[in-house]
Amino acid sequence: MSTHINRQRTRILLFSLIAISCLVIPSSFVQGQVPRSANGQSAGQRADALLKQMTLEEKIGQLNQAAGFPLPGAPPAEEQVRKGLAGSVLWVSQPAAINRLQRIAVEESRLHIPLLIGLDVVAGYHTIFPPPLAMSASWDPKLVERVQSIAAREARSAGINWTFAPMVDIARDARWGRMVEGAGEDPFLGMAMARAQVLGFQGLQLGTPDHVLACVKHFAAYGGADGGRDYDSSYVSDDLLWNVYFPPFKAAIDAGVGSLMSAYMDLNDVPATGNYFLLNDVLRHTWHFQGFVVSDAMAVGSLVTHGFARDREDAAYQAFRAGVNMDMASYSYLNELPRLVKSGRISVAQIDAMVRPLLVTKFQLGLFENAYTDESKIDGVMNDPASAKFAREAAQRTMVLLKNDAQLLPLDKTGKKYSSVAVIGPVADSGPAQVGFWGGMITGGKDVVTVIDGIRQKLGSAVRVEYAKGPNIRREIPSTFEGLPGIMLHDEPAQSPADAQAAFTQAVETAKRSDIAVMVLGENALMAGEAASNSSLRLAGRQQELLEAVVATGKPVVLVLINGRPLDISWAAEHVGAILEAWEPGTQGGHSVADILFGDANPGGKLTVSWPRSAGQEPIYYAHTLTHALETAPNFTSRYQDVKSSPLYPFGFGLSYTKFSISNLQMDKTTSKIGGSVSASVDVQNTGNVAGDEVVQLYIHQQSGSASRPVRQLKGFERLSLTPGEKKAIHFTLGKDELTYWSPSLKSWVLEPAVFDVWVGDNSNAGLHTNFEVTQ
Ligand code: NOJ
Repeated sequence: MSTHINRQRTRILLFSLIAISCLVIPSSFVQGQVPRSANGQSAGQRADALLKQMTLEEKIGQLNQAAGFPLPGAPPAEEQVRKGLAGSVLWVSQPAAINRLQRIAVEESRLHIPLLIGLDVVAGYHTIFPPPLAMSASWDPKLVERVQSIAAREARSAGINWTFAPMVDIARDARWGRMVEGAGEDPFLGMAMARAQVLGFQGLQLGTPDHVLACVKHFAAYGGADGGRDYDSSYVSDDLLWNVYFPPFKAAIDAGVGSLMSAYMDLNDVPATGNYFLLNDVLRHTWHFQGFVVSDAMAVGSLVTHGFARDREDAAYQAFRAGVNMDMASYSYLNELPRLVKSGRISVAQIDAMVRPLLVTKFQLGLFENAYTDESKIDGVMNDPASAKFAREAAQRTMVLLKNDAQLLPLDKTGKKYSSVAVIGPVADSGPAQVGFWGGMITGGKDVVTVIDGIRQKLGSAVRVEYAKGPNIRREIPSTFEGLPGIMLHDEPAQSPADAQAAFTQAVETAKRSDIAVMVLGENALMAGEAASNSSLRLAGRQQELLEAVVATGKPVVLVLINGRPLDISWAAEHVGAILEAWEPGTQGGHSVADILFGDANPGGKLTVSWPRSAGQEPIYYAHTLTHALETAPNFTSRYQDVKSSPLYPFGFGLSYTKFSISNLQMDKTTSKIGGSVSASVDVQNTGNVAGDEVVQLYIHQQSGSASRPVRQLKGFERLSLTPGEKKAIHFTLGKDELTYWSPSLKSWVLEPAVFDVWVGDNSNAGLHTNFEVTQ
């Protein structure tokens, strides 16, 4: 029987090789170049030739992305692939399963078209790095590019050829759980991070070996959800769309991103996945995007739930008409497009136009030459020691020191100052919390160096280390993902009040018998990410109470935060000696935290979101416009009557174990004609005793024009390393790109004559100031 099957397989294989070789000559494929056939056909020509051979059913199949696990009412992915009814499969992460699916596509489907295999490789596949919000806090695009190139290499070696990243949604409200997936609140920094990630994932062009297709998401303004409630409607003005929410998408497109994902929510009352303005007027007609659009998961079908489409058929029509090429897992295209073509609402030529970019992408990626992954090489890639080493360094560079009174940090590691340390908190020994939502979805949070591991290894026998978890933390309302097939993340078990109290008491007692306490508090993996919005930013469970009880012991306390968004730490900011924001630091993160706590690394990360005093201040961001009554005016100090309107920590803020001076701000000229550029320079010096990194930031403000402009806007930054005493000059150029904006009153891009303020410093409150004038 099996011999028979094998013989049959061999026959199928032979047949498919012959068939494929009619389309391509694999030997002509030079690594790193976009594959062409022997007669020099481009990917586009090859796609056209292939399209001619396809039936309508097969074409529609390419527009369907099948779920890798069984969904109610949908045939198994394998069956769809075999019949040529799926162009892509998502949510399979294991190499053997992926190879199996590719074999079915290439060897068993009629036209042997390989699959796009999509997965959310957001910050790593095996080696999990800090998530994008943390990466942005490095202010180091080169680092981010390298992170994503390692993520791409690991993913590709597992057979994944398409990542649903980068997520570039601007987020200005920490209640929104998905803030962790993006680069924070600022479009200028967001553009730099978008470009870096696309280059990291894709390489210089699609088809670069060891890289994957990137997918910029979620188009657009998903981060503007009302009240920070995930999936809720966004009401965003044209001004904010063009000036704030769109630019990182445009940057990703300019960097060559091959695909884009439409968002879930309504944008100004039109669902993003059925939004002609977004997907056609902006994306195709204005930006000339050549790649393809995939919907978010089930988002085509949910055009009905939105009260936008009449039924599934109408949903398929609306999404198709708006410009969605591929339907992610709602099967609306597969089931409804044939009917729509039959009835004449959609033409075959329109179907062809939607299928073509998908085929072109597959040719560009080299999938027709080799769709499979070599399973014997995977372990070597995953266990490359260079990746682990880099993950440790990368996490160090993302961490932000928020407070360090009386130089409490770095801690002594020799045992001379402290003979014992208590490490306390629910996320001090949590792999899942350290790798976060997407890292946890792939790895389950296994093989992680946790904070307690890192501290123990760092201190060896020099200092006694005792760990106490304290009470468990859990979501108030269970995650919608928990319990779904294939989901490897679980919330912590519920504890009885008596057990929680025992854990609480044990933690306080541990602090009492130690010389110093390191409290590791924050969020577990299901508390940040998708469907994890909060109405409050308070520390979950009994963490605040525990923190207060440990501080009350009188022992020095260092607070380390493991989390995906700013939390309400106003009390800690007053009562705790040192606070380190470690984000979700990834698989090596425990080492990175220990390196910083004990002075083997000097923190240099800076916040990329304004840190609120409490949830009631959200949304809060530095680039607001000026108002009728300024905070600086006499007798007017806050927009609230119960709290200052400034954040607890400003955008761009972060401390170091050394000190820097930024001085001598000079402009090369004080006036410039429209279209010209000016250059600003400053001197930066390390005036402290240890080497360290400073992120020098330049902000501008246009004093008058056809619209009120933000009080400050980031328009330049550079992270630099300086040894003690070392001084460097930094230059920034302000030209057309930095000074142009989309004017809501003129409804066009403008560069206006005006006086521009310039500030340079180490956060968005920078004081060093000058100005220049743009003239007609
Ligand atoms: C839904 C999420 O919104 C999106 O970011 C993700 O890429 C898809 N699911 C696929 O997992």
